[in-house]
Amino acid sequence: MHRAKRSLLAASTGSAYSDGFKMTDTPRSVFPHRHLLGIEGLSPLDIQALLDLADQKVEVSRQIEKRKSSLHGRTQINLFFEPSTRTQSSFEIAGKRLGADVMNMAVASSSVKKGETLIDTAATLNAMRPDIIVVRHHAAGAVHLLARKVDCAVVNAGDGAHEHPTQALLDALTIRRNKGRIEGLVVAICGDILHSRVARSNMILLAAMGAQVRLVAPTNLLPPGFARLGFPTFTNMRQGLEGADIVMMLRLQRERMNGSFVPSVKEYFRFYGLDQEKLSYAKPDALVMHPGPMNRGVEISSDVADGAQSLIREQVEMGVAVRMAVLEALASHLPNG
Ligand code: NCD
Repeated sequence: MHRAKRSLLAASTGSAYSDGFKMTDTPRSVFPHRHLLGIEGLSPLDIQALLDLADQKVEVSRQIEKRKSSLHGRTQINLFFEPSTRTQSSFEIAGKRLGADVMNMAVASSSVKKGETLIDTAATLNAMRPDIIVVRHHAAGAVHLLARKVDCAVVNAGDGAHEHPTQALLDALTIRRNKGRIEGLVVAICGDILHSRVARSNMILLAAMGAQVRLVAPTNLLPPGFARLGFPTFTNMRQGLEGADIVMMLRLQRERMNGSFVPSVKEYFRFYGLDQEKLSYAKPDALVMHPGPMNRGVEISSDVADGAQSLIREQVEMGVAVRMAVLEALASHLPNG
């Protein structure tokens, strides 16, 4: 493995916790972290523990009576500086299913001026004594900054193009439940990798769990640094998908693009959109994933998105289970947890 990639992974499997939480003489907890700010910094054991817990939460969610009490009496604030439908509602359902009082705070991005304002917001929220804050912010690193300013647990629900840890965990859970393993699988992450926090978190997680991750994208949507980390990169879908067990499509994130990155949507679909023909280059039992929201006819065709090889709906179900697992794991470190 490439040296830089090894050191990236070494950093993510080490026992030094970046969140300043010390597990000195207590026995190893299921998830020994105070916050979930990224996949980077988690060990394979941490990831496995969350996935195992999430498997149990899938069963809970499939029961008629879903309400549990592990977060009873806790206050969860969902602080979203970027619009979100599925992630915010998934965190809300997860918190409520565990008995927390959940409050949604949608902050119009236009009123946010970064830096001091974010710190002020953090201080204000902190004074309301929440137990868990779930944050989505358009700036990479903003969630880390906020976590340093509050006393409660913080979950990163997506920070700029940096990380989206619960998305990578739910993708891993979906893969593990369908393929029985992650190790040794060939996963092709395709599309707008440059602007994707989903890609970044998945690359770290899947590589740490022993999958072979490949990146497939037009050159201008592929950060050169990722190839230097040792991930095989392809600009051609046929070559990139050959032998893949999992085809993970990404949304073309036009709202993050400064200027024109693709000549036209029609041309993008022709070369990089996943249709039945391109999917046939992957293994016959390959499975298709997409974090949503999907742009049908841009990065994926409707027949593939709704086809027999698609896991897209299941990813949404796993999202709730993973978020329940994360909230419960973090709540266990709160006072009286
Ligand atoms: C992803 C995100 O926000 O990063 N979506 C999500 O969490 N539901 C991917 C995307 O927006 O394309």
